[in-house]
Amino acid sequence: MTGSGLVITIDGPAGSGKSSTALAVARKLRLTHLDSGALYRALTLALLRAGIPEEEWEELDREIWEELDLRLEPEDSAFHVLLDGVRVGPELRSPEVTAAAPRLAGIPEARRRLIDVQRSVAEEVGVVADGRDMGTVIFPDANLKVFLTASLRERARRRLLQEDRPADPDRIEEEAERIRLRDETDETREISPLRRPADSVDIDTTQLTFDEQVDRIVDAARRRASEGLTGRGRVG
Ligand code: CDP
Repeated sequence: MTGSGLVITIDGPAGSGKSSTALAVARKLRLTHLDSGALYRALTLALLRAGIPEEEWEELDREIWEELDLRLEPEDSAFHVLLDGVRVGPELRSPEVTAAAPRLAGIPEARRRLIDVQRSVAEEVGVVADGRDMGTVIFPDANLKVFLTASLRERARRRLLQEDRPADPDRIEEEAERIRLRDETDETREISPLRRPADSVDIDTTQLTFDEQVDRIVDAARRRASEGLTGRGRVG
């Protein structure tokens, strides 16, 4: 399954495994993974590096947002994020960036800055895009929309394992509370809140293995392809 213009969206709450799932789906279908969270994280990192206090972000002029030099470069099945022409990697997932990103994501100018970045890459290559508003705002005409969920405790457990931290009951509770607060910020913000797209395939992954959840999406995409990629109804 190749081709520019082809879009699969995967939205869902924090820690639902969207990014790793989207990358695996992209590899299987020979598409490119667009990690929209990395873009919000990259803008956050750029402002932190520039030393602009968080309280001032909301008031920044449009020109400042436009001047932030952020680009995407496709390689293999994913995009690298470039800030000022230089690739950024693990620093996007530092605790400081993770804590400040939801605030930035609630700022209309920040979201506006990223609309074209996301849509233009999807004109070049077929994408599997994951985030909070992929199916609702950025790609409302996507060929397939998926909404991925898992119980809060399971998401907390997976996040700890992913970060090589011990997943004992106390730590799971702590992490679950952090995730719950981020979900609340994302769901209650005025602009592009996290919502299930009306026409999405919903997958609760609490009881699924990683391979099973990837296969469900790949199967749904193949079914859509065999329908000529025109169907917009529920699959699954
Ligand atoms: O991987 P995780 O779910 O922890 O976060 P992420 O997908 O890397 O996204 C980081 C932050 O960016 C989230 O907490 C959201 O506030 C925001 N975001 C968003 O508002 N819209 C998107 N399409 C993607 C991320």
